[in-house]
Amino acid sequence: MSSAIGDHFISLANPEPWVSQTTVLVTGLLLMLTTCLVWFNETVRSLTLFCWACFFKPFAKTDHGNSHQSALESFYRSQASIYDSSRGVLLKGRENALKLAASHLKKSNKLVWIDVGGGTGYNVEIMNSLLPITSKFEKVIVVDLSISLCEVAKQRFEKLGFNNVEVLVADACDFLIPEKYVGNVDLITFSYSLSMIPPFHAAVDHILPMLNKEIGIICSVDFGVQTSATSIGRTNTLGGTVNRHVPWIFRTFWRAWFELDRVFLDPARRDYLEYKFGTIKSLNCSNRVLGNIPYYIWIGCDKDRSSLLLHRLNAMATESPYLAPASSVPVKSKGYERALENNKKHLPYPSVYYQREVWRVYYEESNPQYAQFNDQYIYAFTWEDPREDIKILNLKPSDVVLAITSAGDNLLSYASIEKPPRRIHGVDLNPAQNHLCELKLASLRCLKYEEVWKLFGLGKVENFEELLFSKLAPQLSSNSFQYWAKHGPQIFDIKGKGLYDTGFTRWALRLAKYVFKIAGVSDTIEELLTCKSMEEQKFLWESKIKPAIFNPIVSKMLVGNPIFLWKALGVPPNQAKMMNSSILTYVVDTLDPIVGRSLISKDNYFYYLTLRGRYSSSNCPDYLTKETFKKMHQKESPLDNIRLHTDTLNDVFERLSSGSLTVAVIMDHMDWFDPKKNDAQSEVEHLKKCLCNGGRVLLRSISKEPWYIRVFEENGFHCQAAAVRVKRMTIDRTNMYASAWVCTKIPARRVSDLTI
Ligand SMILES: C[S@@+](CC[C@H](N)C(=O)[O-])C[C@H]1O[C@@H](n2cnc3c(N)ncnc32)[C@H](O)[C@@H]1O
Repeated sequence: MSSAIGDHFISLANPEPWVSQTTVLVTGLLLMLTTCLVWFNETVRSLTLFCWACFFKPFAKTDHGNSHQSALESFYRSQASIYDSSRGVLLKGRENALKLAASHLKKSNKLVWIDVGGGTGYNVEIMNSLLPITSKFEKVIVVDLSISLCEVAKQRFEKLGFNNVEVLVADACDFLIPEKYVGNVDLITFSYSLSMIPPFHAAVDHILPMLNKEIGIICSVDFGVQTSATSIGRTNTLGGTVNRHVPWIFRTFWRAWFELDRVFLDPARRDYLEYKFGTIKSLNCSNRVLGNIPYYIWIGCDKDRSSLLLHRLNAMATESPYLAPASSVPVKSKGYERALENNKKHLPYPSVYYQREVWRVYYEESNPQYAQFNDQYIYAFTWEDPREDIKILNLKPSDVVLAITSAGDNLLSYASIEKPPRRIHGVDLNPAQNHLCELKLASLRCLKYEEVWKLFGLGKVENFEELLFSKLAPQLSSNSFQYWAKHGPQIFDIKGKGLYDTGFTRWALRLAKYVFKIAGVSDTIEELLTCKSMEEQKFLWESKIKPAIFNPIVSKMLVGNPIFLWKALGVPPNQAKMMNSSILTYVVDTLDPIVGRSLISKDNYFYYLTLRGRYSSSNCPDYLTKETFKKMHQKESPLDNIRLHTDTLNDVFERLSSGSLTVAVIMDHMDWFDPKKNDAQSEVEHLKKCLCNGGRVLLRSISKEPWYIRVFEENGFHCQAAAVRVKRMTIDRTNMYASAWVCTKIPARRVSDLTI
């Protein structure tokens, strides 16, 4: 007996392994079950309360008198404890709005912030993870009219030890702050509160004098339905209209629905903000989880901030004669003219005026010419070899260069030479090309090298949205920011195909892949990309790749096909007509000598990218090298000299001061002109006007003797071929063009010369 008891004791003290495992398992399960039940209870309670308060209570008869405060209390009293857990899904965009606001704030340890209608203080806790509240802020004031929500906020701040945060139970329209902060507030936020304040004009007017005029910013994230009709006459103040217009049916539905809860989605609230302040950034979004409820994120500033400086910058940006003292010279800056017009009407300046960087020159986004591009860039990378440009042009610091933006790679190459030109104008009619270039400039300005490399070297990054809101946004124009907020997460998605599988140029990469697959040489291409000697490279090309891709079937179906030319290489029909040979012969003449020029694995990033879909660190455009990054990233960077124009070349030539350009690089774009029309003549005349005497035009053509050279000569240019492609020779690393030309403006004879 005793031994049995003893055994029992022994077995309990040293249980069998299965017993202890079962105990752990059962305890674990019980714990999980309890947690689930508590969570379930909590969630169900929050959800029921939330649904009751938001969807059913409005229909129940309640008496909350006439005061706004008692109405708010009646709505929030029962929900205060579950407010935060129930609002995550409804009040979307608050985190991004705070990131955006934080990234636009000046760097300081004495920031002052007022959160108007701050509720439970949730935003302050979020901000703490971006900018620590106790070390970066001198004072934070949370103003709210609901006593119950303010109580939750107070408890939160006490728990978090934020003793520089004050909670004011007060009305947004008449609350008071210490005198010393009036005119010195760095940040004012309305987070889903403006839509709940019936006299919103009064609330906005009330905070206006509190904001620091020079550096203060105001941020609103809220529900709202805008229409394109209410934007007429002030589009340039809005910072972009992507997804702004909400169709009538949804506008009506959401307004009516939210009005039941005394939340007002009328366009007037945001319109008023956009009237009272200058728009720095603006974003139109929809809550995908809850039936696409429209909401927006908006950042603004005092509308007269630094206006004089802004005029000057814009004038300089376009080289407009505005800077010239003589008033007889007409002002030709579109941005300046629009700013004056807005000023007369008491509207804010165009949004581009409130941006930190001056790269992007004002353009009219409602111009119908932009519609043809369908919100897409054509070139994700630039296909012209800048090394040759730099050699041919021998650029100097006194040069003012104008070039077609394309993907911006060559503008950045010109800016990266030892003594860069004093001004580089990029021109592209396609807004998306300039958005892409802006993203590159912004990245070089503010990201780490590794991040720049991931974005543009590999074309993919883990956290694009985070980079955009927290770092890149202050360096981008609002239009570009909207573009990248819409497209960037998908384009740069780490699980996606990356940047180089976008734009028209993606067809070059995709078709190259298909051609090699069909021809069965995909593995050989891999070998080609790791070749260490020219002999090895030539051998692979001659013995394996060339015979396979130039076999009759592949040639007929792909390489020699006009659709391939247009889609993959961007060669339009007018240009194709200028080839002096068949398409196939042209392609052979292009590719054949490339293999003998340099190692594709080491010194031909154009073909390396086409074949591999990304760059390598030793084989990439200049702007992606570490040395160039250092140069661009420093203060007084060559990036400061770049300006981006979103117009036709002739539009820009017209606005540039006469004789202000020393070099124009117009790529192959004159090949696109119809020889029977007047386009070439008109462009040459425009060029002539804004080039200085001795100014040069560098152009490339698919023809060895382009027809429009004659037009240059007839207009007083001296034209010389800088390179002409001959069989088995390359003219540059892409070898895509048959010739490159330099046309130099001959000084007009002086009158005295003529009389002699
Ligand atoms: C939807 S809640 C947003 C709360 C908080 N900002 C957030 O993002 O979680 C709207 C808040 O605005 C407050 N509010 C409405 N009218 C107000 C007024 N006239 N003055 C101050 N606060 C007001 C409400 O009490 C409520 O806390």
